[in-house]
Amino acid sequence: MKNPFKFGSVVDGRHFANRREEIKQVKSILNSENHLILISPRRFGKTSLVYNVTRKLRRPVLHLNLQMVTSPEDFARQLVNRIFRLFPFERIKEYIKNFRIVPVLKFHPASGETHISFSTGFADDRDAAIIEDAFYLLERVASGKKIVAVFDEFQEILRLDNTLPAVMRSVMQHHKNVNYVLLGSQESLMREMFERKKSPFYHFGMVMYLDKIPEAEFRKFVAKGLEGVSSEPGNAAAQILGVSRSHPYYTQQLAYRVWELMNSREGAKQMAEGQIGDGTMAKGKIGEGQMAVDQAVDELVMMHDIDYERLWHTFNNTDKKVLVGLSECRREPLSAEFTHKIGIASTSTVFSSLKRLQTDGIVIKQKSDYEIDDPFFSRWINSKRQQIDVRP
Ligand SMILES: Nc1ncnc2c1ncn2[C@@H]1O[C@H](COP(=O)(O)OP(=O)(O)OP(=O)(O)O)[C@@H](O)[C@H]1O
Ligand SMILES: [Mg+2]
Repeated sequence: MKNPFKFGSVVDGRHFANRREEIKQVKSILNSENHLILISPRRFGKTSLVYNVTRKLRRPVLHLNLQMVTSPEDFARQLVNRIFRLFPFERIKEYIKNFRIVPVLKFHPASGETHISFSTGFADDRDAAIIEDAFYLLERVASGKKIVAVFDEFQEILRLDNTLPAVMRSVMQHHKNVNYVLLGSQESLMREMFERKKSPFYHFGMVMYLDKIPEAEFRKFVAKGLEGVSSEPGNAAAQILGVSRSHPYYTQQLAYRVWELMNSREGAKQMAEGQIGDGTMAKGKIGEGQMAVDQAVDELVMMHDIDYERLWHTFNNTDKKVLVGLSECRREPLSAEFTHKIGIASTSTVFSSLKRLQTDGIVIKQKSDYEIDDPFFSRWINSKRQQIDVRP
């Protein structure tokens, strides 16, 4: 039997749960003249959602993650490179001739890849010229079928050069042959870019916020995956979702480990010994799910101990207090009760800390509720604090 849970990379097919409404929305935007801006915290499933729609569209799809791009020129280089992967050179070469800064192409026959660099030619604003020409190529090269151009971590363009948004918007807004899909995980920067009137990208496309997967749907998905190894898959799934709070990535990560434990004879034996003491398989015994989940959670917390400790040292004292408070009770951190409990004088101090932690992806805001993004980090904080109280 193969473990049915998958975490870390794009999921599709049997690894992909629900999102029916979101799929409908994304499909409808991509079949229109509009562009999509998709925002969610890290690892909520933006890329997977978009992939699940685009793979069925039978249209050229270009995907570029801006996190790995180092300059406007590098951005243009990578964009042109991806266009080369999608279309035959014969189609592209006509347009390349019009570039103000001539691209130098080196073809590597072994890998089939084309390496692109830009000559040292002069233009008024070299970076802007290179970017504009690369986007011009994207619009021109499409034939018949519109291209879907997905830019991941789009807020990173601000890091590359703060004049880049204006340059890009001025060319992208005229495009008729491309649907742009702009993904971002830094909510405040993305909001700023697409919802602030003065921003060049104001009202560029339809802004969609991706939520967690609804608990009931996700529970069914997890239970189905556990069917082969558990006689109480519904119970075990509920325990898993209780810990992961339906976070797509952490749910899959925990479910993966629980499945491994339940499937391995050793794991089942350990659980059975703990539960019934006779070494027989634990299947069907009360609490089987709970035991496997507890063990899996302990393992995951321990596995990340060094990373969490390193991370902990990067916070200032206020942030630490807020995180401790959230790890103990995540509700209403802006209430007087919460601030009093964690020993901070004012709610505005807590608010600034929450904003900071949110920008860094440590804390996420779900409706009006704040929580620590990683449920295992939350448990690590708790367990470390309890250790202090342990007397030999
Ligand atoms: N619809 C889904 N059903 C089940 N699991 C999912 C789903 N969407 C995401 N996941 C889980 O979350 C993980 C991260 O998904 P994905 O890479 O698509 O998210 P992302 O928002 O693009 O992340 P990042 O912020 O790192 O770019 C997947 O590997 C998978 O474990
Ligand atoms: Mg992604």
